[in-house]
Amino acid sequence: MPVDHFEEKEFSGKLTGEVTRRILSLLKPYKWRVIGYLASIILVSVLDAYLTFLSKQLVDNGIIPGNRPMIIQILTNYGLIIIAQAAGIFGFIYLVGILGERIRFDLRQKLFNHLQMLSLSYYSQTPVGWIISRVTNDTERVAELMTWGFLDLTWGVVNIVTSLAFMFAINWRLALIVLVILPFLIIAAIQFRKRILSQYREVRKINSKITASYNENITGVRVVKALGRERENLKEFGGLTSGMYKAGFRAAWLSAMFLPVVQLITSIAVGAIVWYTGAQINYQGITIGGIQAFVSYMTFMMWPIEDLARVFAEMQRAVASAERIFNLIDTDPEIKDKPTAIDPGTIRGDITFEHVHFWYEDELPVIKDLNFHIYRGETIALVGSTGGGKSTIVNMICRFYEPRRGRILIGPFDYTDLSLEAIQSRIGIVLQTPHLFSGTIKENIAYGRLDARDEDIIKAAKLTRAHDFISHFEKGYDEQVGEGGVLLSVGQKQLISLSRAVLSDPEIFIMDEATSSVDTITESLIQEGLEAIMKDRTSFIIAHRLSTIKRADRIFVIEDGQIAEMGSHQNLLRAKGKYYNLYTRQFRNEKEEAYGVFSQ
Ligand SMILES: Nc1ncnc2c1ncn2[C@@H]1O[C@H](COP(=O)(O)OP(=O)(O)OP(=O)(O)O)[C@@H](O)[C@H]1O
Ligand SMILES: [Mg+2]
Repeated sequence: MPVDHFEEKEFSGKLTGEVTRRILSLLKPYKWRVIGYLASIILVSVLDAYLTFLSKQLVDNGIIPGNRPMIIQILTNYGLIIIAQAAGIFGFIYLVGILGERIRFDLRQKLFNHLQMLSLSYYSQTPVGWIISRVTNDTERVAELMTWGFLDLTWGVVNIVTSLAFMFAINWRLALIVLVILPFLIIAAIQFRKRILSQYREVRKINSKITASYNENITGVRVVKALGRERENLKEFGGLTSGMYKAGFRAAWLSAMFLPVVQLITSIAVGAIVWYTGAQINYQGITIGGIQAFVSYMTFMMWPIEDLARVFAEMQRAVASAERIFNLIDTDPEIKDKPTAIDPGTIRGDITFEHVHFWYEDELPVIKDLNFHIYRGETIALVGSTGGGKSTIVNMICRFYEPRRGRILIGPFDYTDLSLEAIQSRIGIVLQTPHLFSGTIKENIAYGRLDARDEDIIKAAKLTRAHDFISHFEKGYDEQVGEGGVLLSVGQKQLISLSRAVLSDPEIFIMDEATSSVDTITESLIQEGLEAIMKDRTSFIIAHRLSTIKRADRIFVIEDGQIAEMGSHQNLLRAKGKYYNLYTRQFRNEKEEAYGVFSQ
């Protein structure tokens, strides 16, 4: 597929209003769970801060005055709070776990549904790896953000707020000082993280270049060797790895510096407070327990601050993921039903191309002013040199692509007035590179008709001669084909996908080099069966082996997006034109090929 020019849009990861709204809307169906989860976090955090407050009371009102009943009272409260806290912690971890699963599932479902609707043109412009990464990595990252990231964030914020509140309750002057220092600490922490992150991003960028370079050199190793490119490639590779080393070194250095620096600032602040309050004890109304609690609250707050920087960095990445996902969801299918689209119940009828123009990329016409009329039930063969536009024509009949100019009629309808479902569910198409799905042979044949009976499946397979090789398998029709059918040869896959099309009993039947990898003997055996299928239904055959298309009602020679010649086999031979040339050259080759087979 021509995807070299695919360039990924850069996403900022900035939390704009629009993205925030859409991310939050993912939570909407689970409103009550979210509320329950926020409530349990707040509860746990407040209780946590209150425990420290109890320690202060224990020192000031119990231990220092030697008040035994008070000590017992406070310790009992302590125990009760710890139980309540445990319940709260269980609550939010449980809720967050469920929430994560749901969001992941919802997002994947949404993407999957949308991907099914996108037109073929989207797939020819977007690398499959990119799409899969959206569905797996990005949904994962967003689900993480919505759950654990969200949890870290709320936990940090709530902790800072409750710590501050309790500090104010103990001594508002000191609390005010902390409140002033706080933003600086937060900014310092975030700046540090940003630097580290940008270094790591550099590392990742180089890393993906290295992977790509590996990939190209390994898959193309024969070419590399044959052309003696080893030395140049090694040089390029060396440049990449040393760049990666430098960026990695800087990132590691910054990371190593980060914690000590933040901790140093915190310790200095704590020390200053202890020193300052120590000098003021008694006349500022702060107690020993109060100082102790204050220092605890300070350290309490430092954790989330150190952590917040990490959470923000992760959030940024997750937001970029969310943007990519939304971008994919927002991609409009190029081909979609009109609101007034109808299903006429059948698409048996004549097919007409009226001044059809088509191009994949601007300024590169592929089909040029194509006109033809095909009668219902006709068998049409498309032949011609490679790149002429044969596959494009049949893809247009399936409405995988629509004319850019002109129109295509099925029966009396402009086919864009029909629903895609109405057209595509009644067309059977078999491609040169057929796709099988992992599962058994039987499942693959019945793919388009899940209700098919075993007899029907076997009948279809006999017609296409797939039955012969299937019955040689140990498990017969229940044999697994492997992922994408890797356990079968290309020819076997073609026969299975041919059986699939036969079974689906389509109204229009299309074979695009459907038997190109099947040996000539089997192909001639299939011929009879296929003729039975093509009888009474409009069929299109594209083939390079002319022996398979001789019996078509009409043959179109397609050159350069136009019909260069048209007629029956006999007529075209008599005309001694392009088809004649093709045929005589090809026929000689095929004879030699057949001879080769027989002499083995
Ligand atoms: N997805 C695509 N994006 C861009 N250009 C394409 C795409 N598919 C085909 N083309 C171009 O359109 C032209 C016609 O291609 P098409 O596949 O229809 O030819 P074909 O007659 O089926 O050839 P072949 O006999 O080799 O199968 C070619 O020049 C090809 O490069
Ligand atoms: Mg083709």
